[in-house]
Amino acid sequence: MGAHTHGHSHSPDTVGHHHGHTYDGIDWTEQIGNLRREDLITADAQARIAERLIGLPTGSDGQPVIVDIGAGAGGQSAAFAVALAKRGGGRLIIADAVPELLTAAREHTEQALAGDDRVTIETVVVDAAADSVLETVAQADIVWASRMVHHLPDQQAGADRLAKLVRAGGWLALSEGGLSTRNLPWDIGIGAPGLQDRLLAARDAAFVRMRAEITGTVPMPYGWTTTLTRAGLTEVTSFSVLTDHPTATPEVRASVAAWLESLRDHVSDAITAADLQALDALLDRNAPTYVANRDDLFVLGASTIHIGRR
Ligand SMILES: C[S@@+](CC[C@H](N)C(=O)[O-])C[C@H]1O[C@@H](n2cnc3c(N)ncnc32)[C@H](O)[C@@H]1O
Repeated sequence: MGAHTHGHSHSPDTVGHHHGHTYDGIDWTEQIGNLRREDLITADAQARIAERLIGLPTGSDGQPVIVDIGAGAGGQSAAFAVALAKRGGGRLIIADAVPELLTAAREHTEQALAGDDRVTIETVVVDAAADSVLETVAQADIVWASRMVHHLPDQQAGADRLAKLVRAGGWLALSEGGLSTRNLPWDIGIGAPGLQDRLLAARDAAFVRMRAEITGTVPMPYGWTTTLTRAGLTEVTSFSVLTDHPTATPEVRASVAAWLESLRDHVSDAITAADLQALDALLDRNAPTYVANRDDLFVLGASTIHIGRR
């Protein structure tokens, strides 16, 4: 997570070159595997979110239009598409700054739809931090952005902009925060107990750094319901969905190993030598301590969805 180093301005024509253009210094194409694994492990939660949001009153008749902006590998897009198909069809617009992610998200969504052509899928390269997004993306009954707004320099301005993409009577839904996912027992028998908490604290510190290093970063010293209210929306509220895999299935083992692997880069300079040693023991595929060999793993987390109506 280095600093954002592009010296040029964030004009729309810079979007989509090479890795795509984001402000966070993250190579999102490299993250496709991780995003896919997270989608897999949270698929149930994504389906519940889709059902709940599509069930909201919007006052518009005709087939619903949904925008998933900053869609990543497309897990939530796929869940929306399936939910739309169940209700007779609709239009899904998948938007992201990174063309490779749009390809991945479209593939995943088409697979989930399994040839059902009552849902139309469009993909569009956007920069959610630029007003051009208001011209390139159609207005929708539901505008969904999960863990995207916190990658923008000015999160409030980002939410204000997304609110403009919502049709009158429709909803902006931001998935931000919740509870950090847990997957290791308190005492793993390597190093001092409580490793997971210390890793999560180090990860949060890396997040603070990521925000600080964004060019033009603006603090947002309040919570997301306030953000939505300030964006001019009404009926603002939140709900949370649980991801709960209590046993070490092969998917859980793979997901925990991948999570620790991707975490290592972010936290290695922020944890003690003893904790780094424990982490490396967990990540050593050839050692008996390899995390995926453990039968006491689980995945327990919660995502919070903040919604407001235009
Ligand atoms: C943490 S991922 C979240 C992906 C997915 N929504 C999820 O929750 O799994 C952040 C996503 O936001 C996208 N993104 C970051 N900055 C963006 C920008 N300025 N405009 C549009 N998308 C952006 C990234 O390409 C990535 O797909």
